[in-house]
Amino acid sequence: PVVGLAHGVVGLTLGSLIQCFEWDRVSEEEIDMTKGPPSFPVLGNLHLLLKPPVHRTFRRLSQKYGAVFSLRFGSRLVVVVSSPSAVEECLTTNDVVFANRPQLLIGKHLHYNYTTMVVSPYGDHWRNLRRIGAIEIFSSSRLNMFLSIRKDEIKRLLLKLSRNSLQGFAKVEMKTMFSELAFNVTMRMVAGKRYWGDDVSDEAEARRFREIIKDGASLGGAANAADFLPRVLKWIGFYGYETRVRKLAESTDALLQGLIDKHRTSRKEGSTMNTMVDHLLSLQESQPEYYTDQIIKGFILLLLLAGTDTSSVTLEWAMANLLNHPHVLKKARVELDEHVGQKQLLDELDVSKLPYLKNIISETLRLNPAVPMLVPHFSSDDCKVGGYDVPCGTILLVNAWAIHRDPKLWEDPDSFKPERFEGGDDHGQHKLLPFGIGRRACPGAGLAHRVVGLTLGSLIQCFEWERVGEEEIDMTEGKGATMPKVVPLEALCRARSIMKDVLTE
Ligand code: HEM
Repeated sequence: PVVGLAHGVVGLTLGSLIQCFEWDRVSEEEIDMTKGPPSFPVLGNLHLLLKPPVHRTFRRLSQKYGAVFSLRFGSRLVVVVSSPSAVEECLTTNDVVFANRPQLLIGKHLHYNYTTMVVSPYGDHWRNLRRIGAIEIFSSSRLNMFLSIRKDEIKRLLLKLSRNSLQGFAKVEMKTMFSELAFNVTMRMVAGKRYWGDDVSDEAEARRFREIIKDGASLGGAANAADFLPRVLKWIGFYGYETRVRKLAESTDALLQGLIDKHRTSRKEGSTMNTMVDHLLSLQESQPEYYTDQIIKGFILLLLLAGTDTSSVTLEWAMANLLNHPHVLKKARVELDEHVGQKQLLDELDVSKLPYLKNIISETLRLNPAVPMLVPHFSSDDCKVGGYDVPCGTILLVNAWAIHRDPKLWEDPDSFKPERFEGGDDHGQHKLLPFGIGRRACPGAGLAHRVVGLTLGSLIQCFEWERVGEEEIDMTEGKGATMPKVVPLEALCRARSIMKDVLTE
């Protein structure tokens, strides 16, 4: 039925334009039609988004059409790049041109009319948000200030695992465990409270926050067909996506406003906490025009949506890789025993002395990047990419996942081999870009490395790990804004006898 309707819309529009006007090219040159797969009228190539994961579909297309090819999502032109040189052209040479973001439904409804950092258009507002974020959230002094939270959450996790495995190897559901850790680390920095596990003061509120992350991750992502459908198809209710985003936005806003109001009331009553909400509220008191409630809610949302699932899925993929490669796990433990020993728990500062552990994390981010297509960029001027003319208003998708597995760039690209990073220079030349590059690159990379490094290192230092069965761990990728494992990871775990004294309450 959609094809019939599409023909009607295209036929009537095209016919009327031909009937009523004369048309000519702007210059002598032919209009550049950057190469790409054939598309349907009205819908363009939207059908390609129906079979996730899209990074695999787009890699197949790049093998056929090249490292720079174009698509149509509805009426919007999309360029997909899958090589380091094309990334260099887009995000270094034309960094400013592509520093914009396309305006998608999730940005309109959930991100306060495109005003949070991740979706904000490039310009003064975004620069201001990045500046506030760099000082108030991502600076070393702020990250150091919240170190005790990260240590405490990881210690709680270690103690729980240790108690569970008193009688020998015990089965652990790792996905939930990592989600709980990342969520509690974030919410304790933001609001000073645990929202998962023990010591939760308001279980209903906590549950609603967890739902936001789950729904935000499943409704986000590099490409949603509903964003590009012609108005008429949205209007006849072809897809309930926008309604779901709107509902999520309403309940999220109510929850975030409630949280800010509670902290504001406590401050008025004289009790100030060392949390991000309190820091931002104190700035609001002196500069109300900059630090509005909406800006503060946007920052909390950002930390929840950009900072929790990304770190927890990275931990899950890292452990899955280790369970499938026991010799790597063993080598990492030897490194930990040599450099940290067995008389004390690993500390965040120790991680810099553990090159093999860092290589395991790099290799995991290469094979299993949490944001495989980065966040979509948008051009604010005409430019050239790979010799093609790319007009202003084009959506840019960077297939980091495909670059990370390109056999021209990596030897044996589908294998998990942390040793490939020995020597350390493979990070260059835009071959490895799990956090993006250029001015829209991830500002949370430092925090992510601290959380992932300390957690993974502590798990290797304190426990023995085994697969639940004989079979290899299933590594199938699911769909969503952050690339999840389809089958949640389970493992068998037992505290190392040598570490039992350190693992005491
Ligand atoms: C943007 C990856 C953790 C906050 C991004 C982008 C990627 C990314 C690929 C988009 C870059 C681009 O558009 O070119 C990751 C990965 C993480 C992680 C793999 C963990 C392993 C975090 C954390 C936070 C965070 C912990 C905050 C607490 C952000 C923000 C942006 C962003 C605010 C948007 C920046 C902008 O548009 O100006 N991240 N991230 N991320 N990330 Fe992360």
